[in-house]
Amino acid sequence: MTKRVVSFTVNDEAREITVAPNRSLLDALRTEAGLTGTKKGCDVGECGSCTVIMNGEPVNACLVLAVEAEGARITTVEGLQAADGTPHPLQDCFMQCGAAQCGFCTPGILVAAKALLDRNPAPTTDEIRFAIAGNICRCTGYSKVIDAIALAATAQEASA
Ligand code: FES
Ligand code: FES
Repeated sequence: MTKRVVSFTVNDEAREITVAPNRSLLDALRTEAGLTGTKKGCDVGECGSCTVIMNGEPVNACLVLAVEAEGARITTVEGLQAADGTPHPLQDCFMQCGAAQCGFCTPGILVAAKALLDRNPAPTTDEIRFAIAGNICRCTGYSKVIDAIALAATAQEASA
């Protein structure tokens, strides 16, 4: 299978990778781009652990071909923290609220929550629930996750 060159911007950095045409964006991010923060759970679009933001929308990276990302702007969990390493308010609030246990789902939920707060800085509890409805967590029971996202929204509003 002839490989293709794909150029995109990930976490504000221009990247060029060479992949097979059937390579998923998830595998390309984790392997060719070396960004292993995005997790591979089901690999069939069921669990949300592979969520990244692509051109402003949360997507399951396991369901997107890497070649479809040509020219795209992508944010992975590695792109949430500030350039000086300061955690994103969502990351801070997840720590404060104890919103992670094993942590396998956490990168995908953080990215889905960031996409929510980017488009809706003051979401209701129902809007938070809807935004993370595609992210399965086997540990937390979701309450602390929802509390953390609500707290992050309040913190962001206060600092704006
Ligand atoms: S790994 Fe993509 S949705 Fe589960
Ligand atoms: S913290 Fe373990 S799956 Fe969510």
